[in-house]
Amino acid sequence: MNILILGSGGREHALAWAVKQNPKCDRLIVAPGNAGTAAIAETADIDVMDGDAVVRFATEQAIDFVIVGPEAILDAGVSDALRAAGILTFGPSKAAAQLEASKSFTKEICDAAGAPTAAWKRFDALAPAKAYVAEQGAPIVVKADGLAAGKGVVVAMTEDEAQAALDDMFDGALGVAGASVVIEECMVGEEASFFVLSDGTSILPVGTAQDHKRAFDGDEGPNTGGMGAYSPAPCLTPAIQSQVLDEIVQPTIDEMAKRGTPFEGVLYVGLMIEADGRARLVEYNVRFGDPECQVLMMRLGGQVLDLLQACAEKRLDQMQVNWAEDHAITVVMAANGYPGAYAKGSVIKGLGDLVEDSRNMVFHAGTKSDSNNITANGGRVLNVTARGDTLAEARDRAYAAVSVIDWPEGFNRTDIGWRAL
Ligand code: AMP
Ligand code: GLY
Repeated sequence: MNILILGSGGREHALAWAVKQNPKCDRLIVAPGNAGTAAIAETADIDVMDGDAVVRFATEQAIDFVIVGPEAILDAGVSDALRAAGILTFGPSKAAAQLEASKSFTKEICDAAGAPTAAWKRFDALAPAKAYVAEQGAPIVVKADGLAAGKGVVVAMTEDEAQAALDDMFDGALGVAGASVVIEECMVGEEASFFVLSDGTSILPVGTAQDHKRAFDGDEGPNTGGMGAYSPAPCLTPAIQSQVLDEIVQPTIDEMAKRGTPFEGVLYVGLMIEADGRARLVEYNVRFGDPECQVLMMRLGGQVLDLLQACAEKRLDQMQVNWAEDHAITVVMAANGYPGAYAKGSVIKGLGDLVEDSRNMVFHAGTKSDSNNITANGGRVLNVTARGDTLAEARDRAYAAVSVIDWPEGFNRTDIGWRAL
């Protein structure tokens, strides 16, 4: 098979690494890719947000299967353009990607499906939103309805904080994403993520994970896209997984199908496990998490190509995952200053001294090859990933690799996995 992966982060490097292990993979192209994907696959400099351009490229290159990484590409309708051209594609339609692109859409689906989630209300104007917050009090959660690159959610511990967030959003701080807001009940508990493939009808879980959103050790500092992750998430017990599949995931898939917009891809189910031992939905994403994908791929390996292909060909009911009793962890190395302003272009040394195999991999998130050097080219730059029989073993392996990487312009958390260890 000739395979094209769209995206340029650590998630896409991990997908490429796993897919390439499958003997069915003949040719592998990652567009636009990064220095890490360039070392294991071809890269292509095409406009991945332009459906026509992607279709043209895929046709010219005789691509058999396209895997879409990030949500922005899905929201741009690229998967629809590919399917319309008869090209097998993994990733939901633009209509189904609304499950991530619109918070109020997801809430309406949950209500229609009877899926447990936080109580909510949507507002399109400032005054009634402010009155509602005054009436509800704090803590309370304010969310921009649209895609805001992870910046659209404020968990307000005080009423003032919630009112200030509303002022900002209606003032246009997040552009059109904040033109309407969802105000939600604040849920309390332990957060975990569940990744479930769906071909529009059937579902198949492919792993659980927990990430670390804050920049610094001890969950201090600003929110980030994720500073590390591990899989499995011990708090997502088999009993809670069944509850989530029965009460949240399958009803959502059924509701999407009923509306004529079946969800075909991976549903990233963000959950809050509350004191009563049950989970409620925090949010959906319509793609693999980054860096959660890195730990899932480390555990799944080459079978992931068979799973994604079966998903795209609507025969997921014939598939099963071959699980190993293993654990994986990924430590994000980010540029100093991230998630605020940071410099690009610093040289990363020591990567050549690392062993890379089925238990140890450094996935590149934001890197570039610069003559003889690998340089930093983003906020989150490397995902140092390892697998072990226990989480502690995986953690020790990952941090041993981190210590070999010589990059003074970067930083990492030293406590990834603490909650489960
Ligand atoms: P999101 O950007 O939608 O992933 O949300 C960011 C984070 O906000 C989530 O991972 C949760 O930690 C938190 N969050 C979102 N909604 C709620 C809620 N209703 N109650 C408590 N925390 C929430
Ligand atoms: N790690 C969070 C995300 O991918 O949205």
